[in-house]
Amino acid sequence: MKKILAFAGSNSSQSINRELVNYTTSLLTDVEVTKLDISKWIVPIYSLDMDPDETPELISELIELISKHDGFILSSPEHNGGTPAFLKNIFDWLSRRSKNVFDGKPMLLMSTSPGQGGGTTNRKVLEHMLPYLGANISATYSLPSFYQNMEDGKLKAEFLEDLKQAVSRFVK
Ligand SMILES: Cc1cc2nc3c(=O)[nH]c(=O)nc-3n(C[C@H](O)[C@H](O)[C@H](O)COP(=O)(O)O)c2cc1C
Repeated sequence: MKKILAFAGSNSSQSINRELVNYTTSLLTDVEVTKLDISKWIVPIYSLDMDPDETPELISELIELISKHDGFILSSPEHNGGTPAFLKNIFDWLSRRSKNVFDGKPMLLMSTSPGQGGGTTNRKVLEHMLPYLGANISATYSLPSFYQNMEDGKLKAEFLEDLKQAVSRFVK
């Protein structure tokens, strides 16, 4: 059975992107899902001065975890039209340890926010950035106006169809 690693790129304990990830994994069948919560991670800001001897343990563990999975679901918040520093820092560390950390394996890249854009601006930034780390972005999905469209843990029908299509492109 294929193994999927699912996580949100947020350090908020109340992350709406994590909610979206959890909802999305509930749509998957016939795969083994590992849900990773990185919200409490404290990772020092990458510096060339720390490199190469001081790789944070969490980064080494994440590389190991990524290598053991066949595909990835990531939902990222958007901060000021870009990637939150918390997540970007993790990607910077990963990229310094491996040029191809995601190894060409498929990724469903998602985003959501309370606003109408649903984090799409940053999702496009990540679509450009993550192939530098070897990701194969095989499907994308953004949910606008999270609090209006995800009610009591249920996605409104008009958004569910697009999400199901994205999931189906990903699992193929
Ligand atoms: C510093 C900062 C910048 C933000 N910039 C944006 C933005 O550019 N676009 C947007 O849609 N939401 C923006 N937001 C709101 C986030 O979408 C919102 O906090 C959301 O809950 C973050 O996702 P999370 O809950 O998964 O961490 C920003 C929030 C913060 C704290």
